[in-house]
Amino acid sequence: MNELRAYFMREIPGIDAFLAAEADKLDGLVRDVARHVLLSGGKRIRPMLTILFARALGHQADDISPIACALEMLHTATLLHDDVLDQALVRRGKTSAHVRFGTTEVILAGDVLLALANKLGADYDIPRLNALLARGIMATADGEIRELAHTQNPTADRGAYMDIIIGKTARLIETACRCGAALTSRDRALEDLAGEFGLNLGIAFQLVDDALDYTVSEDEMGKPAGGDLREGKMTLPLILHLESLAPAEAGALLGALREKRLTAVQAEGIVRDVREKGLAEKTREAAADYIKAAVKELETLPVSPEREVLAQAAEYVLTRRK
Ligand code: IPE
Ligand code: IPE
Ligand code: MG
Ligand code: MG
Repeated sequence: MNELRAYFMREIPGIDAFLAAEADKLDGLVRDVARHVLLSGGKRIRPMLTILFARALGHQADDISPIACALEMLHTATLLHDDVLDQALVRRGKTSAHVRFGTTEVILAGDVLLALANKLGADYDIPRLNALLARGIMATADGEIRELAHTQNPTADRGAYMDIIIGKTARLIETACRCGAALTSRDRALEDLAGEFGLNLGIAFQLVDDALDYTVSEDEMGKPAGGDLREGKMTLPLILHLESLAPAEAGALLGALREKRLTAVQAEGIVRDVREKGLAEKTREAAADYIKAAVKELETLPVSPEREVLAQAAEYVLTRRK
């Protein structure tokens, strides 16, 4: 993982400086919200993937920052909106933006960041980048809406869960990879390779996130542990738990989730059961299959330092604890 760490340490200051400069160009409250959320220490995985794919495919020019940072802005905008939807109080170890600045303000600031990301992409005059950004935003919103509907009428259906996580998380990570490729080359087969890597990595990323939610403390994660169950979210650890129950018991739990009448004590019991039955580990095992598929895509890339870093990034997604 040493190359990965060194690469991130080298590139992240540039990403942070670019984001800070863009935030400072905004006005008033939007600027405050943007600074609060953009400069609060995200992992920067999406912009790094854009940079890595551009360079892995031979991009030499020093013009990657705007598109890479556009991906971080899109991601950040979705976090602003997501914390409103999920009524989440903590993000990146800090009070959520909507709690600090107000819901309306944060929704509008999120819209500004979405627009700014599109502008940064459009300034390249490469129409493919615009199409990719638009598709990524659409898919993310679609995933979030699907999840909202599913939370109102939860089922243990794995297909529905996969559609949700592909939409809300994996497509944007796929977009980050595709944008790096599309910046560098018009070869659609190369972009598709980057896209397949990103899609599989993105699915694994959310699976691991859903496992961490049941096992890791708020101190480590920067967002509250056990939040998914409190938010009524049907994630793979909970699906596996439901599958392990007798039908009547599973039905009763689904009913309690649907009617939002799970008590704190019941929720604690479920988190304990999930841990004791090793269902977070099972979820990570599911993620490992997607990581394998992602890494396989890299085989056809030319050998480069970036190819090795991408392989290590895939490994990191599987083993991360925040
Ligand atoms: C959080 O994404 C939202 C999910 C898709 C699970 P990250 O875990 O990449 O968040 P930051 O940017 O590092 O805070
Ligand atoms: C992650 O949603 C995807 C988006 C933010 C669009 P979650 O609701 O699962 O992520 P966290 O747990 O709030 O980071
Ligand atoms: Mg959330
Ligand atoms: Mg959410």
